[in-house]
Amino acid sequence: MGLKTAVLGAAGGIGQPLALLLKQNPAITELALFDVVPVVKGVAADIGHVDTPAVTQGYVKDEDGLKGALTGADLVVIPAGVPRKPGMTRDDLFNINAGIVRDLAQGIADFCPKAFVLIISNPVNSTVPIAAEVLKAAGVFDPKRVFGVTTLDVVRASTMSAQAIGKPNSAPEYTIPVVGGHSGVTILPLLSQSSPSLPQSLFDDADKLKALVNRIQFGGDEVVQAKAGAGSATLSMAYAGYKFAAQLISAAFEGKKGVVAPSYVYVKDDAEIQKAVGQELAFFSVPVELGPNGAEKLHPLGQLSPYEQELLQACLGELPGSISKGVQFVQAPK
Ligand code: NAD
Ligand code: LMR
Repeated sequence: MGLKTAVLGAAGGIGQPLALLLKQNPAITELALFDVVPVVKGVAADIGHVDTPAVTQGYVKDEDGLKGALTGADLVVIPAGVPRKPGMTRDDLFNINAGIVRDLAQGIADFCPKAFVLIISNPVNSTVPIAAEVLKAAGVFDPKRVFGVTTLDVVRASTMSAQAIGKPNSAPEYTIPVVGGHSGVTILPLLSQSSPSLPQSLFDDADKLKALVNRIQFGGDEVVQAKAGAGSATLSMAYAGYKFAAQLISAAFEGKKGVVAPSYVYVKDDAEIQKAVGQELAFFSVPVELGPNGAEKLHPLGQLSPYEQELLQACLGELPGSISKGVQFVQAPK
């Protein structure tokens, strides 16, 4: 088996380290790095010297590079677009990034309609519906193959929870489902479902619990503020994006069973999830069982604590509007 993986936006803050991490995956034999800026060819030349199987090539938009980058791709990862500066919300990126994701999704429809698509570009809550609408219009939308990458929220939940309980070195031990969306209050960490369980003392201290949830929900702002205008999370995002891509590769192409990872996916046809959220919703991040077809099975949300039910309501106050904004952008462009 040899996989072709394309990174769209590969010259950027996420794209470069993500491409380097992907280069180290032995299942990938072709790595296509695409960007609007020509330096992507230098990035490809640089990464191409790493002594792993993937043959690496750079493609530039102006040179009709999208076709070359996408043709034959099994996996497409999209970190293309502008990042936040302090004071901005992810939704403030919509005006620029919506069009970028729409055009890249059209390229996927044209050149690799069966590829798995991993969308990182913000606002994820809207860019995933945008990509889905473009693929639907082209008659090639497969809901099992389109993923909004929310792994950074999962990674933050483990790290920040371990810190909050005074065991900062034990982040890898805690697996915590994070559901909902990828922006502020739409990010819903289900700390009550941590495996192993977090200590009861955390749940007994309402202020501490609230502070931890808030830190996970607004972890992106922590980085944006610390970078002070120079962008948002890039390195932890590259780690998280690679983590999800590697999980998908192992389950979809290497026969690994029991791989479950939260991701923002199409949930409209899943009666159990619709019931759990109490309204018709097209996209929601849920723990997804990955397999040869991609999202083989969506796991239910499980038992939510009363506090998590409150958080779910806050999430539902924002998420449907972000989804329809993305859908409208494609269906009824202004
Ligand atoms: P960046 O500005 O460093 O890099 C973006 C890259 O995209 C640049 O190289 C740029 O040239 C390229 N680009 C722009 N238009 C393009 C197009 N039409 N086709 C191909 N490439 C194009 O930004 P970054 O820090 O890498 O962030 C990228 C995106 O990822 C932002 O929208 C950011 O908000 C988002 N992000 C998402 C998550 C998440 O958890 N999903 C985490 C961090 C950042
Ligand atoms: C993050 O969560 O770090 C990303 O979505 C980038 C951002 O704008 O915060």
